[in-house]
Amino acid sequence: MDLTQLQEIAQHERAAQKPIQIRCCVAAGCLSADSLAVKQRLERAVTETGLGDKVQVCGVGCMRLCSQGPLVQVAESTLYEKVTPEDTPSIITALDGSETTVRHGDLTQPFFTQQMPIVLENSGKVDPERIESYIAAEGYRGLYHVLHEMQPNEVVEAISQSGLRGRGGAGYPTGLKWATVAKAKGERKYVICNADEGDPGAFMDRSVLESDPHRVLEGMAIAAYAIGANQGYIYVRAEYPTAISRLQIAIRQAQRLGLLGSQIFDSPFDFKIDIRIGAGAYVCGEETALMASIEGKRGLPSPRPPYPAESGLWKNPTLINNVETFANIAPIIRKGAGWFASIGTEKSKGTKVFALAGKICNTGLIEVPMGTTLQQIVESMGGGVPDGGVAKAVQTGGPSGGCIPASAFDTPVDYESLTQLGSMMGSGGMIVMDESTNMVDVARFFMEFCMDESCGKCIPCRVGTVQLHRLLTKIRQGEASLTDLSLLEELCDMVKNTSLCGLGQSAPNPVFSTLRYFRDEYLAMVGEANVY
Ligand SMILES: Cc1cc2nc3c(=O)[nH]c(=O)nc-3n(C[C@H](O)[C@H](O)[C@H](O)COP(=O)(O)O)c2cc1C
Ligand code: SF4
Ligand code: FES
Repeated sequence: MDLTQLQEIAQHERAAQKPIQIRCCVAAGCLSADSLAVKQRLERAVTETGLGDKVQVCGVGCMRLCSQGPLVQVAESTLYEKVTPEDTPSIITALDGSETTVRHGDLTQPFFTQQMPIVLENSGKVDPERIESYIAAEGYRGLYHVLHEMQPNEVVEAISQSGLRGRGGAGYPTGLKWATVAKAKGERKYVICNADEGDPGAFMDRSVLESDPHRVLEGMAIAAYAIGANQGYIYVRAEYPTAISRLQIAIRQAQRLGLLGSQIFDSPFDFKIDIRIGAGAYVCGEETALMASIEGKRGLPSPRPPYPAESGLWKNPTLINNVETFANIAPIIRKGAGWFASIGTEKSKGTKVFALAGKICNTGLIEVPMGTTLQQIVESMGGGVPDGGVAKAVQTGGPSGGCIPASAFDTPVDYESLTQLGSMMGSGGMIVMDESTNMVDVARFFMEFCMDESCGKCIPCRVGTVQLHRLLTKIRQGEASLTDLSLLEELCDMVKNTSLCGLGQSAPNPVFSTLRYFRDEYLAMVGEANVY
């Protein structure tokens, strides 16, 4: 494969496109609402009406407004929501401009217009099961460029200059991590894509893998070239069967075209990617536990240092990045580090994908520039709380994060601001809560999650999360005293400061943040003030 052949595939793909494209979402959310049947009926209706040479039905990835699925988009301007197989004849009839009763979506609403898709630029547009579709959208151009026009250290430098930070939670500078692995000494080096995505309410990574898997493969291959690795692994949870099957298809297709495997793009660079399937333990998203799991051991975290960059998989230098981090790489190479660095805030560059869920009108995926306020996300893009309700708080960062009260909704969303508020960016789950939400319940829910998911290796987390859950239950049931409340805070500090890995260290965060902003609700349930 050379550049001319890549361009020929892209041109052929574009030339084969018919004048009218009907795109039907076949990502997990819409699939679960029967979108495959919708797609099949649309295809049949096109054939039966003799429109086959003018109209093309394509299965595409997530169109972002998942709560209104199945979604179908005709050309660039018409969106249909909650489409059923029975709606399809009407959609075909409406191609000539006639009226239809099928529910229209509004592509001019803030939910869509205020987004800035970089990671999701192809979601809802390309067919995730056809590499040609990705190539026609500039796919694999970035990989070609680095292999033929850049030295590995220049690639690392470009990623550093872009200011990209890891999207898996902690926001560690990606270029710095790549530079450390590139410099580390080892016979072999590895690249791992962390697709474990275990936070309750988060579905960004699943969506990227289901909608645009080649983007992740391309990002991993660029990373492998930059750090000197020839083997990559994608660690993905078994609960994501559609993502797994699309990754398998994508890897096969890329190998067939010489975009993965030996002598990629006729260069001396070899890179192979294999999939490893996780069994759904939340702790296996933690990098040392994940690597133990790939090595075939029980997925238990280990103390760091040594960090994976120096001693990772089978004690070799290993680069581990999140799905969304890798999904940002190809556009940075194609459009330049300066372009990426011009988006976002001083210390948080680029965009962030959030899975917007909970008490919100528009449930789905949004991608916004870093620095967008929570107000804009919740009220404008999310459409606010249904039925005229009032937003009380937003939970970000999953079990490691916290609850941000509505009074702080004017905060720009970036790594530092969210941490200052006692929450964290996390991987991108964003759960909106309304006035009916009891914040002690929220803290208890996340503690129960951590208690269940604790691997048990260290005592502070294994025993501490159980005791914290017990105390929260006691408070919720109105059986606790002020002494219990003090005990809760003391134990939170202890679990945070003495647990071995991030799960235990951050498990108290939802308690800390709800105590900070909603202490009244705790106080109302303890001592004589108790009315429950
Ligand atoms: C309990 C726990 C679960 C985690 N789960 C994930 C996960 O599902 N996906 C992820 O990318 N990172 C997860 N992380 C963070 C990873 O350990 C690691 O920092 C990340 O994959 C690095 O990628 P990045 O630099 O691109 O953010 C988790 C961390 C902890 C402590
Ligand atoms: S903090 Fe929790 S999850 Fe992490 S090693 Fe200790 S027991 Fe396991
Ligand atoms: S899954 Fe179809 S719009 Fe998100």
